Amino acid sequence: WTRSLNQTTWLLSLLSSSPGAFLVLVESIPEGLEFNSSTTHPSIYQAWINLMKEARSSVDIASFYWTLTNKDTNTSEPTASQGEDVLKRLAELSRALKVRVAVNAPEKQPQDDLQLLRSSGADVRTVDMKKLTSGVLHTKFWLVDRKHLYIGSANMDWRSLTQVKELGAVVYNCSCLAADLEKIFEAYWYLGGAQSIPSPWPSRFSTAFNKETPLQLPLNNTPASVYLSSSPPSFCASGRTSDLQSILGVIADADRFVYIAVMNYQPTMEFSHPKRYWADIDTQLRRVAYERRVKVRLLISCWDHSQPLMFSFLRSLASVYEPMSKLDVQVRLFVVPSNPRQKQIPFARVNHNKYMVTDKVAYIGTSNWSGDYFVNTAGSALVVNQTESGSSEPTVQSQLKAVFERDWFSNHSTPLSPEALEAFC
Ligand SMILES: *[C@@H]1O[C@H](CO)[C@@H](O)[C@H](O)[C@H]1NC(C)=O
Ligand SMILES: *[C@@H]1O[C@H](CO)[C@@H](O)[C@H](O)[C@H]1NC(C)=O
Ligand SMILES: *[C@@H]1O[C@H](CO)[C@@H](O)[C@H](O)[C@H]1NC(C)=O
Ligand SMILES: *[C@@H]1O[C@H](CO)[C@@H](O)[C@H](O)[C@H]1NC(C)=O
Ligand SMILES: *[C@@H]1O[C@H](CO)[C@@H](O)[C@H](O)[C@H]1NC(C)=O
Ligand SMILES: *[C@@H]1O[C@H](CO)[C@@H](O)[C@H](O)[C@H]1NC(C)=O
Repeated sequence: WTRSLNQTTWLLSLLSSSPGAFLVLVESIPEGLEFNSSTTHPSIYQAWINLMKEARSSVDIASFYWTLTNKDTNTSEPTASQGEDVLKRLAELSRALKVRVAVNAPEKQPQDDLQLLRSSGADVRTVDMKKLTSGVLHTKFWLVDRKHLYIGSANMDWRSLTQVKELGAVVYNCSCLAADLEKIFEAYWYLGGAQSIPSPWPSRFSTAFNKETPLQLPLNNTPASVYLSSSPPSFCASGRTSDLQSILGVIADADRFVYIAVMNYQPTMEFSHPKRYWADIDTQLRRVAYERRVKVRLLISCWDHSQPLMFSFLRSLASVYEPMSKLDVQVRLFVVPSNPRQKQIPFARVNHNKYMVTDKVAYIGTSNWSGDYFVNTAGSALVVNQTESGSSEPTVQSQLKAVFERDWFSNHSTPLSPEALEAFC
């Protein structure tokens, strides 16, 4: 509690002292997960509450599904209270401001939260991704007053605030970037109810900011270039870099290292029939490791629902390791420990992060790393290129690198060994 109070005070002092845009990394650290490290960030819960406090005119949320209360599991888990608080406040805001929610078309997901928001005045549209692309709307971001934004791995799920490890970024006071994210939101909004995807997209969805011509701005008082990428490619209007091109570009641009922390990594289209091999990212990693001796690290999640095949592909990637030839690809598994009570919570206690950091760039996304997410599933990412520190504040890249190193060197990460797979996955 003291820590979150300190962080709030720190956030408020930052808000009042800095007139320009600033970015704050935010995390959900599952209940009871301890690190022997001074690297901490404000919680995603706190960030969402702050965003709602800042809201004066509008809140737009792109989401996969909504289970912010305990009802979905019929339990009375005390750590659901943060999620329940977020839902309550959002319902209150829906009575006062313009609140819009774009959500993946439900199959069997609970509808209670969305019904509450609707009856409180929020406008909710479902996007039938199954019909449009055979994928899902997997994006997770918030836009407030077309000025502040949040993007990251957390779902609108109480577990994402207290029982699942998540990472995101909040950008305050950045109308230009928010206006650009609004274009991605407006595309979902348009597709809610639409029968097909426009091709080409009307020009109001186009953007000037992308991999080639990023938005240049001071971020946390330091020059940065920034852009948003989106998937699937059919959702990208003119000028928009696709999420896959953004990932491949960031890897290609690295000189010294590529650190990747994702829940899921597979060089396949996981959900396609017939089966399809899909090695775009895998090949790029092997290429930079071999051609330019870039050090590659992957921190992947291991939990009850991990697919055994993923570990075979990871072993293959990790075999690109030969110190004499300076080939240096390494893979470790992150395991979130659980006590017996926590073990009972379904779909919890996992590292759900979806980010990458290189010696130059921070990439914060919303997608699992397998082919489906870049071919037919909707996701988006924030890419921040900011390495030269123009002020005393640490860059976004160095902060994200510290998060990766905290996790990689923690006692919660284990080598990709048969013993670890046997014990945890
Ligand atoms: C945003 O920036 C403006 C100046 O550009 C400043 O007046 C205002 O206080 C800032 N707001 C926040 C929330 O930082
Ligand atoms: C925590 O880290 C410090 C500094 O690296 C080290 O001296 C100490 O032994 C560590 N403690 C545990 C419990 O790992
Ligand atoms: C990891 O270290 C912490 C102290 O830093 C300790 O409380 C915890 O039991 C350790 N966990 C494992 C899995 O070794
Ligand atoms: C929770 O209870 C409701 C109503 O009794 C039931 O329909 C639903 O299947 C239950 N959900 C779970 C996850 O047990
Ligand atoms: C980052 O910025 C530098 C300098 O402007 C540029 O050369 C590089 O291509 C950028 N990297 C990415 C991944 O956008
Ligand atoms: C992302 O990957 C996890 C682990 O396989 C899976 O449980 C989850 O459903 C995936 N997301 C989607 C939208 O498929």
